[in-house]
Amino acid sequence: MKQTSSSAGDSGGGTPREDKPAKGLADVVAASTALSDIDGRAGRLFYRGYDIHDLAGHVTFEEVAHLLQRGALPTREQLADYGAELTEGRTLGALVESHISEIAAKQAPMEALRTLVSLAGADDPDKESNAADANRRKAARLTAQQPVLVARYHAARTGADIPEPDPELSTAANFLLQITGRRPERREVEIFDTCLVLHADHTMNASTFAARVCAATLSDMHSAIVAAVGTLKGPLHGGANEQVMRTLEALDPRGVAQAVREKLAAGEKIMGFGHRVYKTEDPRATHLRRMSQELAEASGDDTYFRMSREMEEVVFADKHLYPNVDFYAATVYHYLGIPTDLFTPVFSVSRMSGWTAHVIEQHADNRLIRPDSEYIGERDQKWVPIDER
Ligand code: ACO
Repeated sequence: MKQTSSSAGDSGGGTPREDKPAKGLADVVAASTALSDIDGRAGRLFYRGYDIHDLAGHVTFEEVAHLLQRGALPTREQLADYGAELTEGRTLGALVESHISEIAAKQAPMEALRTLVSLAGADDPDKESNAADANRRKAARLTAQQPVLVARYHAARTGADIPEPDPELSTAANFLLQITGRRPERREVEIFDTCLVLHADHTMNASTFAARVCAATLSDMHSAIVAAVGTLKGPLHGGANEQVMRTLEALDPRGVAQAVREKLAAGEKIMGFGHRVYKTEDPRATHLRRMSQELAEASGDDTYFRMSREMEEVVFADKHLYPNVDFYAATVYHYLGIPTDLFTPVFSVSRMSGWTAHVIEQHADNRLIRPDSEYIGERDQKWVPIDER
């Protein structure tokens, strides 16, 4: 692990270290990857060297998943083969099938996904192997399965009878079909597909890092993905998109600016703003803002979009913070008819492609990830027997 702000070393022996660790590992280069790259100053994101602005709206989520997991944008033949693997992977295993209703009754969406991914590991025919070909198959299965898990979880808790995934439809179209129960319109599918493309990978974000730490112990892909799902859940990471919608719903449309200023003055964080790496606009937010506006106008009620714009202006004026990927994703999903508590699960549907690609990459050139820590506790304490304390 390269450290850009403190030197590595043995912290044992009781000698206080003079160097200060970067809190939250800021600016620490924790891994090498050929999967994605960010230029935080220019606000640019690349998947395997392709600019996200060139990919968004031009390639499908399936092409991006292939790019990440298999190394290149697919030819038509490769895409057909990969599509067939995804179709097969959409069939849930026996253990998952027998537990999904009970889990849906007892766990919130991201908790349920954490449990269901773990159960799916037991159903996976390649569960015993970390070999490259087994990992590639598991990556495709996990990518195929995640949207179905979300839809089936939602159906189980609402009692809805949902259609089976249609092998002729894309991941995006199948998900909207299963969640809303109606055949989505072409433009809705295009927009949701672009959302999946935009969320697929993002260098060493917290959930990907968690997946890589787990994989680096030579644990299996499902274990690494369980770690990632649990990490994505938090509101400082993937959980922010749900919180953005909850904030919009709680605000009075006529009092947005004042309410946001009051929150900021009280030291509250506004969900969906700020980023560790971007010092300018997150390039994904540019696309999501445009799609949110389009859907808002098409819906005939653009209140939430207009409120979002106002929030954006106030947060920038007061704090010079830009919206991140989660801010406009919230209203896009809302206008697409996705329930608010499934926004973070939707993030996981896309990011599964990146997480699994990172596990493949980690296993292909592995070394245990085990950083150091700075000891800040007491020293030279004298042990006393329990009755004398
Ligand atoms: N609202 C208000 N103030 C903020 C926000 C925000 N959203 N984000 C950062 N700040 C302020 C902090 O209060 C802090 O101010 P201070 O120096 O006066 O104490 C300063 O900006 C730096 O903030 P940190 O939290 O230290 O920045 P860090 O790089 O650790 O965190 C993070 C980045 C977690 C994204 C942060 O901006 C945040 O909490 N945003 C809100 C949650 C969110 O939207 N998360 C999704 C991120 S994108 C993703 O993970 C998919």
